[in-house]
Amino acid sequence: MRKIFIAGNWKMNNGLDATKTLLEALKPLVADIKNVDIAVAPTYTSLAVAGELLKNSNIALSAQNISWADSGAFTGEIPAAMLKEAGCTHAIIGHSERRAMFGETNESVAKRCRKALDVDLTPIVCIGESLEEREAGKTMNVVLSQLTESLASVKANEADRVVIAYEPVWAIGTGKTASPEQAQEVHAAIRAKLGELFGTDVAEKMRIQYGGSVKPTNAKELLSQKDIDGALVGGASLKADSFKGIIDAAVEVSA
Ligand code: PGA
Repeated sequence: MRKIFIAGNWKMNNGLDATKTLLEALKPLVADIKNVDIAVAPTYTSLAVAGELLKNSNIALSAQNISWADSGAFTGEIPAAMLKEAGCTHAIIGHSERRAMFGETNESVAKRCRKALDVDLTPIVCIGESLEEREAGKTMNVVLSQLTESLASVKANEADRVVIAYEPVWAIGTGKTASPEQAQEVHAAIRAKLGELFGTDVAEKMRIQYGGSVKPTNAKELLSQKDIDGALVGGASLKADSFKGIIDAAVEVSA
C-alpha cells in the first residue's frame, strides 16, 4: 500500500561536474521504474543544475535542509522559494549531522517542517539514537520523543505528506547497519506513535525510511520488513550502480 521511497543524500559531495556525471549515469538506469519513488539531495550549489537535468524525469530533487523563514537576515540559510525555483520538491530536515554539529534541535526541525508543508515541499524528517543511547537502553525514549517534538507543528490532516527517516546515528557512514529486526522494532514503535499523534489511518499511510549504511547487499532484507518503507542512502548513493542496486531491491520488494 505504501510506495517505497529511496532517497540519496549526497551530503557535502559532488560539485557541478560530478553532479552532471552522476545524474546522467543514473537517469537512464532508472527511467522505466514506476513502482518506487526516487529522489536525490545534492548540495545547494548543485541544485539548480540538477533541477534542469531532472526535469521530466522520475527522479525527484531534494534539498538537504530548508529555512523556516522566507527571506532576510538569515546568513547561510536557504528559503523554500529558492529551493522550489531550483526544482526541489523535497527537503531533508534534522539530519543527525545537523543535529550533532550545527545545533539543530527538535524545535528548529519543527519550524522547518512547518515551512516545508506550508509551501508544499515534502519534508523528510530525520530521527535516530546514538550508540551511547542505544547501549543505555534509551533507544525508544529518544527516538519517540524526537519524533513527537520534531512533528509538533504538523496537523493530522497533513501528516501523510511527511516522510520520516529513522537513522540510528551509530549506523551512519560506519558500515554498521541495524539488523532488519532491530530496524523493524523501532519502525513499528514509530508507526504506533504516529498513530497516537495523528490517528492509525494516517499512520498507516506515512512512509518511514531507514538510513544508515544501506547498500545493495542489505537493502532487500531491510525493505522487506513490514514497517520499512524506503531508505535514506548516503555513501551508496554517490555511485550510480550502487544506488541503482538499492532501487532494484526496492523494485523487487514492491513486485
Ligand atoms: P550512509 O548515510 O548511508 O552513508 O550511512 C545515511 C545518511 O546519513 O543519510
